Amino acid sequence: MNATALTSRRVVTTVRGQPASDGAGVKLNRLIGQPALDMLDPFLMLDEFRSDQASDYLAGFPDHPHRGFETVTYMLAGNMRHGDNQGNTGMLRAGSVQWMTAGRGIVHSEMPEQEDGLMWGFQLWVNLPAADKMTAPRYQDIAPEQVPQLQPADGVELRLLTGRVGEVYGPVTNVATAPIYVDVRLQPGAQWTSQLPQRHNGFVYVYDGEAIVGDGDSSRTLPRGELGVLSHGETLRLAAGTTATRLILVAGKPLNEPVAKYGPFVMNTPEQIVTAIRDFQSGRFV
Ligand code: FE2
Repeated sequence: MNATALTSRRVVTTVRGQPASDGAGVKLNRLIGQPALDMLDPFLMLDEFRSDQASDYLAGFPDHPHRGFETVTYMLAGNMRHGDNQGNTGMLRAGSVQWMTAGRGIVHSEMPEQEDGLMWGFQLWVNLPAADKMTAPRYQDIAPEQVPQLQPADGVELRLLTGRVGEVYGPVTNVATAPIYVDVRLQPGAQWTSQLPQRHNGFVYVYDGEAIVGDGDSSRTLPRGELGVLSHGETLRLAAGTTATRLILVAGKPLNEPVAKYGPFVMNTPEQIVTAIRDFQSGRFV
């Protein structure tokens, strides 16, 4: 019997975050959307916010617009209250995910619902294809208990936000770029080989411990705070060394379309950006 070898992914480049400030002065660690990694199609931005100093996050993100892409907020610790100009509200708690398709436009706020303690999580920006940029806004607000927890191997625990692992699907569905977003926890010495669509662009970001990413001689060890951009391939081996390790694994179908970005607007042409600014300023984001 012939076995066809699957191509395994490896780390092609690594980046560290850059300190950034956004909203009304929230301190962030910007991993994608900075000089070392401008974007990783379809991912436009990845911020980690992590602080137990209230002054770093209390100002929050008061009313601001988005058009042309999706914002994905995944909370590890703390509480964030969400509200928009359509009257939609929600509370993001530790372990919850909000996948917001801004489409043709929303104006919203994201404010801490706590005055002290640890606030920790990620915001990922995912681009929309040209055909969907002006779609109606949509929210997928997923409570922590709705996120499947899987144990695919000894010492490996996954929380599957979107995409498929084995026969299990994450609760966020119908996203144009068919993404996979998995929160991975590895006990010391544990390992797991994930299956991924071969042509998806992907990355891992280690947010605790130290991960060994890739197979054999081509593996790289990534410490906390390092993001590894992955080569294409069908499998990815992840392992922990001597410390417990936590990371996110994210992959999505590249759009290969022109990108015109200006702050919270991400379109295909400069003309569409001008229209977005004009529509926002004249109150047409409703
Ligand atoms: Fe926002």
